[in-house]
Amino acid sequence: MTYERSWATLPRMCGIVGYVGKRPALSIVLDGLRRLEYRGYDSAGVAVIDRDEVLTEKRAGKLANLEKALADRVDDGIAVGSTAIGHTRWATHGGPTDRNAHPHASGDGRIAVIHNGIIENFSRLRAEIEATGVEFTSDTDTECAAHLLAAEMRALRESGSPEGPQTLAEGMRRAVSRLEGAFTLLAVDVQTPDAVVAARRNSPLVVGRGAGENFLASDVSAFIEHTREAIELGQDQVVLITPGGIEITDFAGAPAAGKEFHIDWDASAAEKGGYDYFMLKEIAEQPQAIADTLLGRLSERGDIVLDEVRLTDQDLRDVDKVFIVACGTAYHAGMVAKYAIEHWTRIPCEVELASEFRYRDPVLDRSTLVVAVSQSGETMDTLMALRHAKQQKARVLAICNTNGSTIPRESDAVLYTHGGPEIAVASTKAFLTQLVACYLIGLHLAQVRGVMYADEVAAVVSRLRRTPDALRELLGKMEDVRALARDLKSSSTVLFIGRHVGYPVALEGALKLKELAYMHAEGFAAGELKHGPIALIDKGTPVVCVVPSPAGRGVMRDKVVSNIQEVRARGARTIVIAEQGDDGVVAYADHLIEVPRTPTLLAPLMTTVPLQILACEIAAARGHDVDQPRNLAKSVTVE
Ligand code: F6R
Repeated sequence: MTYERSWATLPRMCGIVGYVGKRPALSIVLDGLRRLEYRGYDSAGVAVIDRDEVLTEKRAGKLANLEKALADRVDDGIAVGSTAIGHTRWATHGGPTDRNAHPHASGDGRIAVIHNGIIENFSRLRAEIEATGVEFTSDTDTECAAHLLAAEMRALRESGSPEGPQTLAEGMRRAVSRLEGAFTLLAVDVQTPDAVVAARRNSPLVVGRGAGENFLASDVSAFIEHTREAIELGQDQVVLITPGGIEITDFAGAPAAGKEFHIDWDASAAEKGGYDYFMLKEIAEQPQAIADTLLGRLSERGDIVLDEVRLTDQDLRDVDKVFIVACGTAYHAGMVAKYAIEHWTRIPCEVELASEFRYRDPVLDRSTLVVAVSQSGETMDTLMALRHAKQQKARVLAICNTNGSTIPRESDAVLYTHGGPEIAVASTKAFLTQLVACYLIGLHLAQVRGVMYADEVAAVVSRLRRTPDALRELLGKMEDVRALARDLKSSSTVLFIGRHVGYPVALEGALKLKELAYMHAEGFAAGELKHGPIALIDKGTPVVCVVPSPAGRGVMRDKVVSNIQEVRARGARTIVIAEQGDDGVVAYADHLIEVPRTPTLLAPLMTTVPLQILACEIAAARGHDVDQPRNLAKSVTVE
């Protein structure tokens, strides 16, 4: 499988399953949810149509909680109905609680909806719907879709449309025309018991074609036990499944077709989306993870929107110093952030290993902003640093990928990275989304302090929005890196050098190689080489060199090129990561890895990716467990 092949069909965030046929739907949907369990989730729920009722059950926590609740309901229709939808949630809007778990019902209880993605205009829609007297029962953006669909179905019935699947599909088309953002929506309606309708925009959805039964899912693994014939929905399509049919239209109602394919993986590979390792899958998910993290961040007024803000703009204007605290890969994201935050805001910014922070007695007060960066939100070192900062009256802002975890709960403000669950121990998509979140915080600070205009902020955001496409292009050209990895697998050491934002990228490249391939690897600031580390260079020593864009500060790029010449002169084998079109580096590169052009401060979103792949492939070539390297755990909850 190539890296670009399946980014569009990869699951992210929530898991979705739908079934319509002749068999009891509940067990099929629960099996599907179990297959999606590897993605980790914080709540799960199902809705089953039985005769004239939509029966739902939903629970916060693991799937086992839902299964326990369902065990008491064996005698009711939920166990026998043959149309159902099911959902595992990775919380975005609204914490991981029973009431926020999906499905969400319309006010009259006739319709149930599940959703993957983020509805960007949800606060406007919610206000509009509430103004009509509807009461919301959750904090989710999804509930808007349930109420909108119910309103459209009422309007269609009132205008004389016949009951039936076609009207349900039309209701869905009308409802989604009101939504902005990313969504896969699945809905069932008690008036149309033998149908499930779904819509897709910017979020994955596949159809499984069975005999006398059909399936919907965010990932084929959910139905691979039952059928291997699948259809990938295109952008902005609505699909209606009934026991005997699959009808696809575009959002305007014109007939459309999805991409049919045969699934040739076995069930065990399916949960990894056909990839050999979760890490490779998560690397491939990065374009989508970045796009999701950016979704809904610019308000109509052009302000950057954080998720939970218990800080006023005045608090942010009063900030006179920023500390970023984090561990490991998250710390490297913080190092990149320092360059961006200082450049955009002109506020001094320090980056500190969380495990060191409180022991050196940092100078903190009310006007210090501490940014705690953590994928898991549970890293004890980062949590203790945060608590120390709070005791000293500093304000704390969390960047986190796990909704409802301890670090965001204890912070004054939160910006969630919407990267979806990261299963591989080595952090990849969390890193890139942490970078995006850090950029957004830098821009937000610059904006509220009046050092950047809204249009300047929007220009950077628009460059950020172009990075997913550039990254997809890059991921499509990684064959040479894989070949290089096989070649380097027996090296005794690999060194990494970079300058400016390329320096943390060098550190990150070395960390990945150490933790996955168990090889000696070191990252250096390129300018530091001559102060000692250059003595390590021997004949054939591989040195990965991260070259800044010539379009940024030309002098910086030229200095790195000189550093490459220095190591080459001492026998190094150079692996050069440079921007497309930077022909001046070709002569100094034993291996050239070109990345798409990106503004200087955003370059780590590109340059890190070949290093992730290099480490992953070297580890695999050395026969190591890529997803679970020795001695490491995904969440480090001890100091
Ligand atoms: C390396 C890696 C770790 C984590 C670090 C912090 O690939 O994953 O270095 O970045 O343990 O974890 P979080 O971000 O959960 O606080």
